[in-house]
Amino acid sequence: MIRDDLLRLESEAHRRLSEVRSPAELDEVRRAYLGKKGSVTQMLKGLASVAPEDRPAAGQAINDLKNRVSAEADAVMLRLETEAERIRLEAERLDVTLPGRGPAPGRRHPLTKIMDEIKGIFMGLGFQIAEGPEVETDYYNFEALNMPSDHPARDTQDSFYISDNVLLRTHTSPVQIRYMEAGKPSFRAIMPGRTYRRDAVTSRHSPIFHQVEGLVIDRNVTFTDLKGTLTAFSQRMFGQDTRMRFRPDFFPFTEPSAEIAISCFVCKGKGCRLCSGSGWLEILGAGMVHPRVIANAGHDPEEWQGFAFGMGVERIALLKYGIDDIRYFFENDLRFLKQL
Ligand code: DAH
Repeated sequence: MIRDDLLRLESEAHRRLSEVRSPAELDEVRRAYLGKKGSVTQMLKGLASVAPEDRPAAGQAINDLKNRVSAEADAVMLRLETEAERIRLEAERLDVTLPGRGPAPGRRHPLTKIMDEIKGIFMGLGFQIAEGPEVETDYYNFEALNMPSDHPARDTQDSFYISDNVLLRTHTSPVQIRYMEAGKPSFRAIMPGRTYRRDAVTSRHSPIFHQVEGLVIDRNVTFTDLKGTLTAFSQRMFGQDTRMRFRPDFFPFTEPSAEIAISCFVCKGKGCRLCSGSGWLEILGAGMVHPRVIANAGHDPEEWQGFAFGMGVERIALLKYGIDDIRYFFENDLRFLKQL
């Protein structure tokens, strides 16, 4: 009788344990058989009503059953844990053969790239690189460059004044004076930097922009040296087949002065959208340094002559990248910057 009950109970426990899917279910089954009110425990309690001579054997049989069910429950627990571990590992699976996701590398700003290119070309031509302050005095920005306070050329360079005599430099030309004052000729340097004018922001203008100034001072420097140097620069910058156009112009700090254009590198001079049909792109102002400027910087213009030039970096960048709006350079939209 007890034997049948035990067999039935064991096969039922075995079936239920084999169907267990979670630790909670296992707990429930364990309690149903082995808990305080579980059926196996109840049977042990029921021993009291068994005939005394049968009791030891029955007790033994129930205890054996209890141990087997308990061992099987432990085995199920192990199975559940192994399964959970397998699922966890599966979820964490790594394909070590996938290409890595490296850090997104930074890159130089397009204006910096153009600036570096310009510097590289002039360094190759034996030029030094010099810098000067962006906050400048009236003397260096205008006066020493042969632009006295009543000079009409001042009106074309609407300035940000900080006080009566101090302003944000409107061009890099004042660095010429500082450079000449600081040393003895000869000089051969470019002076890149940021410049400021009170211009409204448009597709062509920005109140902050960049220039590269150039200065060569030596004995017996002629306009031919100016032409040769700027032709060499333009051909390295825009292509070996670049042709040059020199037109008379006026700057107070040079005499004679020239406005310099290069043949359009897109249409090779035939006329296109970039050069507005003219075939030419104006990129530089230049001239022979005015003797008064050399004298202002403390050198004898009878002994020393030279040429100077100035170019707008944004203008060159617009042309080279074929962009029609200067504002892209300052908005720093990565979608734009990544294209260049
Ligand atoms: N400083 C002039 C400007 O800002 C550019 C320039 C023209 C510089 C002729 C020069 C030069 O050195 O010789 O428009």
